[in-house]
Amino acid sequence: MQHKREAYWFYRFLSIFYDKFVNPLFWTERMRDTSLALADLNEDNLQVIDVGSGTGFTTQGIVQQIAAKQVTCVDQSPHQMAKAKAKADLANCHFMLGDAENIPVETDQFDRYVSAGSIEYWPNPQQGICEAYRVIKPGGKALLIGPLEPQSAFSRWVANTWMLFPKEEEYLRWYEKAGFSDIQKIYVRPHWVRKDRYGIALVGTKTTKGASPLAQSIEDQRPKEKTLKEQLLTPFRVLIGSLAGGLFIPIALIGYLRASIKQPRKGDSHQLNSYQWMTILGILIALVVISWLILR
Ligand SMILES: C[S@@+](CC[C@H](N)C(=O)[O-])C[C@H]1O[C@@H](n2cnc3c(N)ncnc32)[C@H](O)[C@@H]1O
Repeated sequence: MQHKREAYWFYRFLSIFYDKFVNPLFWTERMRDTSLALADLNEDNLQVIDVGSGTGFTTQGIVQQIAAKQVTCVDQSPHQMAKAKAKADLANCHFMLGDAENIPVETDQFDRYVSAGSIEYWPNPQQGICEAYRVIKPGGKALLIGPLEPQSAFSRWVANTWMLFPKEEEYLRWYEKAGFSDIQKIYVRPHWVRKDRYGIALVGTKTTKGASPLAQSIEDQRPKEKTLKEQLLTPFRVLIGSLAGGLFIPIALIGYLRASIKQPRKGDSHQLNSYQWMTILGILIALVVISWLILR
């Protein structure tokens, strides 16, 4: 899915389920609010840009501290954006369809850049991070949240079939090369994940005016247009990527149930919702049917 066209089609369908399935399991309010604290959103009159804003889940955290009219949301998926636009607390935000690697705004325009869970779809993450640098003012801060490469071989294989799961050192290198200073990071994870290294939130400060010092040299590395063969393979790649991504839903539901039995919940405000309970029921019924077919 680390391609704009593939991500577009993936979210064409996932947008229908996104708020119901994805956030309560993988990107919770607690993770979001802990991450946003790094961006220092406490000052008045900050202009904030949320890139890859999707259905507006992270934006909803931002507007708890910043007036919605000072927040600009950018996403390449009209379907995701339609969900965000329908949310009452985001009604006064500015919405723009656009690409994280070529953000349709002026240079040195914002005080804060936020991007949560989007980098994994960017064909050229370094380019996207240079764009984060470009659009904020000197002294401004850019907060990026993304997944970390899973540690177990099986999860890593499924994850890498799905999309980009960078290593921590890659995130840091991209930030440093883009020109950010005072880079800080924290790890974030939902309560059902036992490993610490699930996701990372990192923030850096822009020191100079204008574009990233690296911007000129990475211009030539932008991905080329897809060939006809690659275009024909797109539906197949979207299907395989979606199946791999979809595998994480039962994995997460099982993890969630295991954690609920083993330990009291620690601060995540979401309970499993009816859609997720229905999925668990569906998985159980499928397992019973498969076992019966094998054993009879
Ligand atoms: C996992 S969702 C995250 C949405 C939101 N930030 C949140 O916290 O729920 C990833 C979003 O990134 C968007 N996206 C992927 N590639 C993009 C690109 N190149 N430019 C802009 N948005 C992109 C997708 O359309 C999707 O809405």
